[in-house]
Amino acid sequence: MKVLRFADVVNSGVAFKKRVFIRADMNVPQDEAGNITEDTRIRASLPCIRMALAAGAAVMVASHLGRPTEGAFKPADSLAPVARRLGELLGRDVPLVAHWVDGVDVAPGQLVMLENCRVNIGEKTNDATLARKLAALCDIFVNDAFGTAHRAEGTTHGIAQYAPMACAGPLLAAEIDAIRQALAQPKRPLVAIVAGSKVSSKLSILQSLSGKVEQLIVGGGIANTFMLAAGLSIGKSLAEPGLVDEARSVIEAMKARGAEVPIPTDVVTAKTFSAGATATVKKATEVDDDDLILDIGPETARRLAEQLQNAGTIVWNGPVGVFEFAAFENGTREIATAIAASSAFSVAGGGDTLAAIARYGIASQVDYISTGGGAFLEMLEGKTLPALEILQQRAAAHVVQHAIN
Ligand code: 3PG
Repeated sequence: MKVLRFADVVNSGVAFKKRVFIRADMNVPQDEAGNITEDTRIRASLPCIRMALAAGAAVMVASHLGRPTEGAFKPADSLAPVARRLGELLGRDVPLVAHWVDGVDVAPGQLVMLENCRVNIGEKTNDATLARKLAALCDIFVNDAFGTAHRAEGTTHGIAQYAPMACAGPLLAAEIDAIRQALAQPKRPLVAIVAGSKVSSKLSILQSLSGKVEQLIVGGGIANTFMLAAGLSIGKSLAEPGLVDEARSVIEAMKARGAEVPIPTDVVTAKTFSAGATATVKKATEVDDDDLILDIGPETARRLAEQLQNAGTIVWNGPVGVFEFAAFENGTREIATAIAASSAFSVAGGGDTLAAIARYGIASQVDYISTGGGAFLEMLEGKTLPALEILQQRAAAHVVQHAIN
């Protein structure tokens, strides 16, 4: 299903002198003093804001920050550092407006930032009264917050229901396009890397991908549970023995399609979980009872790197070992290097994955890096994101209305 795109709205001249409400996701990490430690999401939001300003609109930009208590604003909830950083990046003053639900004073050509939307009562429950008020603030609602698109909240869903016009901003559209390109009509073979500490947190992603991909590379604690399912001993490594049956059915489902979950043939072990622990490379069949598996071994890494070299499409979520410790980073570095060198269309997302991409300096060689955490994972699960769904419904209604008029 289609959505209306803000770029098309702007190109048709409709946004001129209109009140445009942009929902961005500028939920960025801060240190204890409130300084922004990583501003990717703010920079990723700039094209939409610039587009609205260039179109001559009166621009309001909203975001959440953290998970504050509704109706109980604390200084730490404030978007003031974000508005300051946004101002620096745009080279203009960005006033921050508090208590904005009942009206915002903004003229064409101006830009204001609205204080943390999650402090408004009814935001998280998507309350209809709040949603109508939000919608009344604007002529055009633009959702550019991919990172929050898996939440049905006042500024991601309710406002889109009632605003005169509701469309997708360039970041939201690019995220959806890239993930769809990777999963809906991928160039094959399609290889997914799903790694992390727990099968339970990514089981539905593994199940969903097992019906789509040619190779499903698992890593971290997830790989340990799959090794158990394959009949291997994993010593005292992190795993979820209660999910071995589920892991086995993923392996079987893949096998039945002629696809594969490559089980590590060698691993890097330690006796303790620490940066200084001695790393020992072992065959996967020789793990001792007191061993912890902290990385895939070099033989496995080479085999996986080869599969990545031959892939048509790669989806990457999660480092395959404890890459924060130098002795256990080889597997993740090899995977990152192989993705960078591969001619496959590659999409990556998730906090740890972005940290690994930064560590190995491969950002420019990954075709698309998602700004989403939970939203990226839900797309991989094949779920429909509520914030996108409402834009699709609005677009469908728009088409019908035009057809009738
Ligand atoms: C994120 O950081 O993943 C998004 O901003 C969504 O935040 P939330 O999980 O608090 O909804």
